[in-house]
Amino acid sequence: MLFDTHVHLNIDQFDEDREEVMRRAKEAGVEYMVVVGFDRETIPKALELAETNPTIYAAVGWHPVDAIDMKTEDLEWIEELASHPKVAAIGEMGLDYHWDKSPKDIQKEVLRKQIDLAKRVGLPIIIHNREATEDIIEILREENAAEVGGIMHCYNDSAEYVQECLDMNFYISLGGPVTFKNAKDPKEVAKIVPLDRLLVETDCPFLAPHPNRGKRNEPAYVKLVAEKIAELKELSFEEVSDATTNNAFNLFKIKP
Ligand code: NI
Repeated sequence: MLFDTHVHLNIDQFDEDREEVMRRAKEAGVEYMVVVGFDRETIPKALELAETNPTIYAAVGWHPVDAIDMKTEDLEWIEELASHPKVAAIGEMGLDYHWDKSPKDIQKEVLRKQIDLAKRVGLPIIIHNREATEDIIEILREENAAEVGGIMHCYNDSAEYVQECLDMNFYISLGGPVTFKNAKDPKEVAKIVPLDRLLVETDCPFLAPHPNRGKRNEPAYVKLVAEKIAELKELSFEEVSDATTNNAFNLFKIKP
């Protein structure tokens, strides 16, 4: 059994065939997933999917690219939703220095506010990081994010930062890039992260794993990620799928 810890089945790329995609996931052994909401449109859709599917959970948060759009009411809304029985985490949140829609100082403020919120409600956080690892680690440390822990989602930096993330109570989640032929860092990371701190995800519809790179990604493909990790760690597929699924249960406090 596999647990895809980061999917965006709540966005319009899946409007035409969402049920079909979910059926294929089940066929591939992907029983559980967390649908991640990140703004006013995607949060209600994540909750709707979680409410109508017993093995689907939701995460609610505000994406760093749109940090500039977040109002006080949005944060209050997210805090209210945190007590929903199917909300398993706060996020995704983080820093994204690739796009410049939201200035860095605003992104940092919105990240700090959401970490604070997560600590108030006692839920783990999901971190989105693009080209901002050092600033993220600094903020996680300053805000004592270790209190709730969480996920470094689609971890894509070098192995040198892994230990610090582990020390702060974070799991490392790997996605499609670990399967890319030219990807060195994620492969190195897969080797060094202890099996009890590793998660798998697709981040679908983005970042489809090899050999589907460039196509729309979907939860069934998380199997390709787990297979590659098994190969890199010289373990069986079952060892990797069992461990990563149990890790997700522990982190999200899900009783299967
Ligand atoms: Ni995402």
